[in-house]
Amino acid sequence: MKKMGLNEIRASYLEFFRMKEHLIMDSFSVVPKNDKSLLLINAGMAPLKPYFTGLQTPPSKRIATCQKCIRTGDIDNVGKTSRHATFFEMLGNFSFGDYFKEEIIPWSWEYVTEVLDIPKEKLYVTVYLDDDEAETLWKSKTDVKHSHIFRLGKEDNFWEHGVGPCGPCSEIHFYKGEGEILSAEEFVKASNEDKAIEFWNLVFTQFDKDEEGNYNELDFPNIDTGMGLERIATIMQEVDSIFEVDTFKNILNKVTDISNVAYGIEKDKDISLRIITDHIRSVSFMIGDGVLPSNEGRGYVLRRLLRRAARHGKVLGINPGFLAELVEVVVLNSESAYPELAEKKDYIKKVIKIEEKRFSETIDSGMEILKDFIAELERTNKTILSGDKGFKLYDTYGFPIELTLEILEEKNLHLDLEGFNEEMKVQRERARAARAESNYMGAEIKTVDTISKEIKTEFLGYNTLKTESVVLSLVDDKDIVDVLHEGEKGALVTASTSFYPEMGGQVGDIGVVYNENFKARVINTRKNIGSQIVHFIEVEEGLINTGDNIVLKVDENNREGIQKNHSATHLLQSSLREVLGQHVHQSGSFVDKEKLRFDFTHFTGLSQKEINEVENLVNKAIMNVYEVNTKVMSIEEAKESGATSLFDEKYGESVRVVSIGEFSKELCGGTHTDNIGKIGLFKIISESGIAAGIRRIEAVTGFKALEFVEKKENLLKEISYQVKATEGDVLSKIQTLQAEIKLKEKEISDLNLKLASGAEKEILDNLIDVKGVKVAIKALKDVDGDSLRNLADKIKDKIKSGVVVLGSTQDGKVNFIAMASKDVLDKGVHCGKIIKDVAKIAGGGGGGRPDMAQAGGKNPEKLDEALNSVKNIMENLVK
Ligand code: ALA
Repeated sequence: MKKMGLNEIRASYLEFFRMKEHLIMDSFSVVPKNDKSLLLINAGMAPLKPYFTGLQTPPSKRIATCQKCIRTGDIDNVGKTSRHATFFEMLGNFSFGDYFKEEIIPWSWEYVTEVLDIPKEKLYVTVYLDDDEAETLWKSKTDVKHSHIFRLGKEDNFWEHGVGPCGPCSEIHFYKGEGEILSAEEFVKASNEDKAIEFWNLVFTQFDKDEEGNYNELDFPNIDTGMGLERIATIMQEVDSIFEVDTFKNILNKVTDISNVAYGIEKDKDISLRIITDHIRSVSFMIGDGVLPSNEGRGYVLRRLLRRAARHGKVLGINPGFLAELVEVVVLNSESAYPELAEKKDYIKKVIKIEEKRFSETIDSGMEILKDFIAELERTNKTILSGDKGFKLYDTYGFPIELTLEILEEKNLHLDLEGFNEEMKVQRERARAARAESNYMGAEIKTVDTISKEIKTEFLGYNTLKTESVVLSLVDDKDIVDVLHEGEKGALVTASTSFYPEMGGQVGDIGVVYNENFKARVINTRKNIGSQIVHFIEVEEGLINTGDNIVLKVDENNREGIQKNHSATHLLQSSLREVLGQHVHQSGSFVDKEKLRFDFTHFTGLSQKEINEVENLVNKAIMNVYEVNTKVMSIEEAKESGATSLFDEKYGESVRVVSIGEFSKELCGGTHTDNIGKIGLFKIISESGIAAGIRRIEAVTGFKALEFVEKKENLLKEISYQVKATEGDVLSKIQTLQAEIKLKEKEISDLNLKLASGAEKEILDNLIDVKGVKVAIKALKDVDGDSLRNLADKIKDKIKSGVVVLGSTQDGKVNFIAMASKDVLDKGVHCGKIIKDVAKIAGGGGGGRPDMAQAGGKNPEKLDEALNSVKNIMENLVK
């Protein structure tokens, strides 16, 4: 058996299948494309599903990949065992209606016994119960020992993962134990004890499982194989744990270095070391593929992994900030196979750093709040924290629920999990409702999902806005129908169309469809599946039938507006990269007729100067009246020409490149104006942050931009008129006015003080006596804090011994002050306590020393009530 490094095994596998005439493709992103059934890619075949089902034609009938995969279903076991991981690489070779069992069985045997050189007596093979064919082939086409073949049931030898392609399979296992396995029962036992290690799964993909659980025969049988790279590496490197595989070990060593905690000494510490080692891999690859931490979907998976790793760093006593350091090792391990990791290294580190910092702050503030909750529980002799409090910590403060549970447990307290889950459910429903509201028009016609996938639409809308075509399918909101009548809503698919379907951030076209028998408005256009384009319509006159020849006419004005904004988005991206740097990548966009929105990676808000620079660059390009050209070319050609591609996008073999003079070159499927001079004018209307490391710019073009400028101009005119200045002087006029207001405020305050001093006599005449202590109380108006203190001081001096409590309203708030002479403090007088109770009545808080205290309140109308309570408070205080 050869001793091989993980990278070496990967290379040998791909080379082996290259020799067997496979197209070797780079790993796809871990972010699935057009696959709502999956959050993250979890198997080599997952990104290839459309090739298996025939929805798309593969670039070759034989493909081999090493695919980045994430599986977090077993996350709780990661760290606890030596074989669970959230990130792994899957080697796979695939046949799309090309070779089948007869080829793959001997090939797999050849690779395992000749390339990897694994001793044959160590190898066992399992076959699906009914699969005589596979067993016969194993026996006739390979020299596997016949007694090493076992038949197992659906549980073990039928591969399926949710919906999609699936089928019976055959697995190859390596036996680490002594002697020989003699029966299927013994084999299952050895498997359960991790002595027989399954490392290669050959799936004979014959079915496509649908949402209802039906197994639909595929038109042609396929091959899908999967070999866990880390797992085969443990075998080749003769180690028991994935954490001892060369590449894993490099990371683990770095973690032990940084933490100064040795591996293999303490069980709990080993768990933390393994969790960090595993999670940093997933996290680096996910961010490299464009995922960012957030509170939902895959962003949440990422956040959870990151925070879990950070928390275990805390457990090991490592200072926050260490995770970003580990990225270096992850990149070093894997850059040969995944150059994108090296390219995006700095970006990955930055995202991790920001999230680590946030988490550290979250932990600190969450801890404080949880402490208060716990103190309250203890004070009230309770042991269960309510679900809504746990949820508040989680939802408002981002405090991980696992952490809440852990800390409560340490104190022998619990969380009302049921209540917590109830709150979660409510929140999910809220989110769902919000999503539904923001859905595009026409989304309620769900029946479009039932239109046959075989129906395809040719898109002609790059060149023409009017087409004639035949209606191939028609649905209403309940079913597939033959006819739609006046007043009805539905959707239709034609053989060809000029209508652009919502895609790549560009909204779907609107317009009309008609013939001599009917007329309908198209309210949205959307891509359904494969290359099927669906028009959502409302019939205005007559009736439309399946099979009708119709005219499809896009609303030109609307399309032209969209196109200008789309082209402007390209200009914006180029300008941002020039002004801010090449780390700027598009992370989302939205373009309609009214405006454009562009989300991009960048870490700080843009200064006004940067915004101006970007705007100027875009406008300069517009004034250069560049032509917009599109060209279809191979992906290699596109890359060589320096075209900007989407951050995490996987493109087909040929791509469309949109170039705007020398200014911008982007891979893009959208529609554009033919000359950017038509954009006229470009104005940024807002810039903001939408997630860690992601900024958003909204902008308008053409007449909308003009309107925006006009509005501002009119506003300036109106302001100048109001402050009675010319436009040129308006700023200095406002400054003068502000200075005048300040002066007047001071005058008012002085006058009020004078009035208040007048009140002095009144106050002194109305002293009250509480158990032998003189108390002066007075409510005033519009006296600021300083003047209030001066007045209180004066009165205190006059009465010599006693307490003064004053309050005054000002600017919709209320201020209080209490002062006491030293001699009454011994009797129990405490200004801090007095003021606290008084301010509370006026909706405020505060406190202070026994002889002097100040506070504010939000409710000026409660001033009198608050001061009336002084007597009572004093009676309780004075001994
Ligand atoms: N798709 C198969 C697996 O994931 C090969 O095991």
